[in-house]
Amino acid sequence: MIVAGIETSCDETSVAIVKDDKTILSNMVLSQIETHKKFGGVVPEIAARAHLDAISKVFDIAIEQAGISISQIDAIAATCGPGLIGGVIVGSSFAKGIAIALNKPFIPVNHLIGHALTPRLTNKLDYPYLLLLASGGHCIISEILGPNLSRTLGQTIDDSAGECFDKVAKMLAIPYPGGPKIEQLAKSGDPLKFKLPLPLCNKKNCNFSFSGLKTAVLYTIKDLGERTDQEKNNLCASFQETITKIFINKLKYAIEIMDPNISSIAFAGGVSANQYINNSLKDFSSANNLKFYNAPIGLCTDNGAMIAWCGIEQFDGSSRLDFAPRSTWPL
Ligand code: KG4
Ligand code: ZN
Repeated sequence: MIVAGIETSCDETSVAIVKDDKTILSNMVLSQIETHKKFGGVVPEIAARAHLDAISKVFDIAIEQAGISISQIDAIAATCGPGLIGGVIVGSSFAKGIAIALNKPFIPVNHLIGHALTPRLTNKLDYPYLLLLASGGHCIISEILGPNLSRTLGQTIDDSAGECFDKVAKMLAIPYPGGPKIEQLAKSGDPLKFKLPLPLCNKKNCNFSFSGLKTAVLYTIKDLGERTDQEKNNLCASFQETITKIFINKLKYAIEIMDPNISSIAFAGGVSANQYINNSLKDFSSANNLKFYNAPIGLCTDNGAMIAWCGIEQFDGSSRLDFAPRSTWPL
């Protein structure tokens, strides 16, 4: 089975062609970062228009790069939520149009499940597994029991982890998106230099809170006044270390209460592109006799391949042209 996956829920216009044997024939990702940079974050209306401008071209290039003809596609999967509704409408409507024209099934995909199943696309990872999903919009710990079945153990009660990275970066005058740049600066910094709060870490639950951490960073920056580059690097390293500690604290609790059949942890979503956090979670997993999985960096942030793969895993033979796009849609 060959599936086209379409992703437009935030600031990447992406189309991928994926086979059910896990071959990624193409995965075109057109980032709108340059468009949104001057605003310090994604502007929904501008994002939707940019998706509309790009989607048809990106689709054509994905088909060409895959080396197939459009008639060889067996189904079209598209993100139908959660996300910025303008972009979701553009991508899902375009996908439905292609499905109708080709007379092939349309598969609506939940963006979060797309992230959640991505470690299975590039690894031999069996169900059930424990998932930490940390992206620009979400921070969730969930048991992934099957392609259509999960049990959420906890999630953020305010900001997401990625949002916290981006907002801290903004306070440090680092351009959007801040996550990758903070990781880079942290390499030259001391992770123990600044003591930052660990919100909710004294609570026996799997919920996260990042807004207090963000405020603590803001006060630290104010206290520093005119800062040196070294102090900036130290703050990036200390912040990244704090996020890592929060993740580990919550995973520690999750493994106490999770299904005893679970023997693997998967880390997904944009923040899972962070190699420092990845290495720490890998060490944590092996210390707890659990296998650790994540995706290659290019598949951690938003991409069409994860949507195509989720479509392949969830396809039940039906075409869901009636499925309405939505801005919220839980895991
Ligand atoms: O999954 P994603 O591409 O989009 C959403 O579904 O939200 O995640 C984007 C988020 C952004 O907040 C970005 O700063 C963060 O992932 N991110 C990172 C890194 N790369 C991307 N955060 C920390 N370290 C990174 N290397
Ligand atoms: Zn995402």
